[in-house]
Amino acid sequence: MKLRGKLSKLTQPVAYRRGWRRAQRYIFRLPLGPLRADIDQRQLREIQQRYAGSPAGYAKYANIDPWLRLNRERIQDLKLHRSRPKHVLDLGCGGGFFLFILKTLGHSVLGLDTARVPLYPELLDLFGVQRVIWTIKAFELLPHIEQKFDWITAFSVSFNIDQATQRLWGPAEWDFLLRDLQQHLRPGGKLFFGLNPSSGGEYYKPELRDFFVSRGAHVERERILFDKGLRF
Ligand SMILES: C[S@@+](CC[C@H](N)C(=O)[O-])C[C@H]1O[C@@H](n2cnc3c(N)ncnc32)[C@H](O)[C@@H]1O
Repeated sequence: MKLRGKLSKLTQPVAYRRGWRRAQRYIFRLPLGPLRADIDQRQLREIQQRYAGSPAGYAKYANIDPWLRLNRERIQDLKLHRSRPKHVLDLGCGGGFFLFILKTLGHSVLGLDTARVPLYPELLDLFGVQRVIWTIKAFELLPHIEQKFDWITAFSVSFNIDQATQRLWGPAEWDFLLRDLQQHLRPGGKLFFGLNPSSGGEYYKPELRDFFVSRGAHVERERILFDKGLRF
């Protein structure tokens, strides 16, 4: 088979699933208007004025609308706008956009993130979202958290990429993290990771993909979904 044929065979299911997700978002809508009504506009304007003209990359998050729209899609794709109230932990929660929408929908939420970016606590305060300050590191347990969760998520976090070398975590590091996360999940709890690529554009090595699948994940390029818990 020619390379083009092989590639199209590989990419077709991905394109199909993306199209299906788009259709589902269209059918099961999640209007942002009522969610925006919960945001203190004066506090938001003050934040925006403080970061207007800031050269820092993270200042883009002060313009909250695109991030609310992106996180609405994440919630629609995980069907969390159509589910009974859940306990959700978001690793690398940033400004808390994802958790803010979930909280407004009636879910119980907690974020976890480093304390590096000054804008994030300001947004978390605006959104009324709590977070645990923590840096996820290879082969180090997460902190004790009183409650257990129905969902643990992580979107675009990069804890699995060594920033100096761009080396990606392999099965050993992921196995350690997944076993730890299992301790924070309620029975039947689910996990979702939306991975970032390394600077070489790679999400994982083939053996890591096989490892995720062996642990019960659906893997679709950067999307790693454990919707039936973890298999050990
Ligand atoms: C690109 S931002 C994404 C924020 C949010 N998840 C989103 O998608 O909007 C990456 C986030 O991951 C956090 N982060 C990066 N490395 C981390 C680590 N090792 N442990 C915890 N958080 C980390 C950053 O502080 C930042 O909030």
